[in-house]
Amino acid sequence: MEREYDIIVWGASGFTGRLVVDYMASQPGASNFKWAVAGRNVNKVRSVLGDRDIPVVQADSHDDASIHALAQKARVILTTVGPYARYGSSLVAACAQHGTHYCDLTGEVHWMRDMITAHQETAKASGARIVHTCGFDSIPSELGVYFLQRHMLATHGVPAKQIKYRPMAFSGGFSGGTIDSMMAMMESAKEDKGIFKRLADPYVLNDTMRGLDGPDRMSAYFDEDLDAWVGPFVMASVNTRVVRRSAELLNGMYGSDFQYNEATPTGKGAKGFLGAAGVGLGSGAFAGMASFGPTRSLLQRFLPKPGEGPTEEAINNGYYDIELFGQHPTDASKNARVRVKGDKDPGYGSTSKMIAESAFALAQDDLPVGGGFWTPASAMGDALLQRLPQSAGVTFEVIEG
Ligand SMILES: NC(=O)c1ccc[n+]([C@@H]2O[C@H](COP(=O)([O-])OP(=O)(O)OC[C@H]3O[C@@H](n4cnc5c(N)ncnc54)[C@H](OP(=O)(O)O)[C@@H]3O)[C@@H](O)[C@H]2O)c1
Repeated sequence: MEREYDIIVWGASGFTGRLVVDYMASQPGASNFKWAVAGRNVNKVRSVLGDRDIPVVQADSHDDASIHALAQKARVILTTVGPYARYGSSLVAACAQHGTHYCDLTGEVHWMRDMITAHQETAKASGARIVHTCGFDSIPSELGVYFLQRHMLATHGVPAKQIKYRPMAFSGGFSGGTIDSMMAMMESAKEDKGIFKRLADPYVLNDTMRGLDGPDRMSAYFDEDLDAWVGPFVMASVNTRVVRRSAELLNGMYGSDFQYNEATPTGKGAKGFLGAAGVGLGSGAFAGMASFGPTRSLLQRFLPKPGEGPTEEAINNGYYDIELFGQHPTDASKNARVRVKGDKDPGYGSTSKMIAESAFALAQDDLPVGGGFWTPASAMGDALLQRLPQSAGVTFEVIEG
């Protein structure tokens, strides 16, 4: 595929886009690949580049011709222009049509389903690899599961039948773009009841495979394996769907009766129970307020606006430490426990590195898949297990089993 650029970063003037540009420009090989940045307002994009000499491309989601031109200029488009359901559909369609690889940071599951259904056959035919969720949702989940299953297969010859993802510690914040995307999803779901139905379906991203997992658990429960109470995890409704799609796309690597869930551990005893119940109530209250017009407007007045986000200090001091527990199908002594750790704020400092490495993998690595809608693990599992520890401060280790 001969193109003017290897990679274009669209949304470079946004909060996350700026961090992606900083990371890509800081890479030792930055001058060895051809890349450009893009946005709807060229002057605004130039202002975030400072004195860095990086070509700028103009593209606005409301101008279809500019989106087709963008998709034809590069081998890979990395986009941080969100909410994706509002601004992203024409780019996905154009990339699928022109055989351009694509990665994004969406967590809008109903929109991903729509994009897969609408453009899967076109992407397969053109050779475009389309990969959603290349940030904190859902790379630590995706690659943590892929790493654990690789370990189980290499050590015991069978995959874990169930994996539980438990964030043990993390520090991070939210940007206005993320809040806007969550609110936009709630607003659309109010108008189209089918969206709620799709969001509630644990296998909504699977094409044919259904498994044993039920709806997300929204209340506190005691996790025997962890010997602790757990409550809901904020990103579970996205990550679990993506991991289950990987179970389908990886052709049986995770087994036919694979189960997966995510929850937040809060400790033992009454304190642990109250903590888990509090997480459940807090998530329920936020979802309730976000789905009702007047309270949604009230929330929006106090939360960060598009373009805003955590301070540089908060981003640099952020971190995450996640454990995944894998159950051997028949022998508990062969269970495995894996740790995924990342430096910097998960949603921004770490996310910007993960999506940039995803774009590098799509542009430079020998990947095992052709055109179509893939997940991070199914398209780039081995490539990212190499790249992330080397360059992006994300590590994977077996701590038991
Ligand atoms: N999955 C994750 O872990 C993760 C982490 C971080 C962010 N995200 C997602 O990433 C997205 C961006 O977040 P953010 O905080 O960076 O948002 P942001 O600061 O609001 O940036 C949005 C970007 O989109 C651009 N844009 C808006 N409308 C456009 C249009 N019509 N055509 C072209 N460009 C347009 C904006 O351009 P202007 O500067 O000209 O306004 C800006 O560059 C959100 O959907 C968020 O949920 C996900």
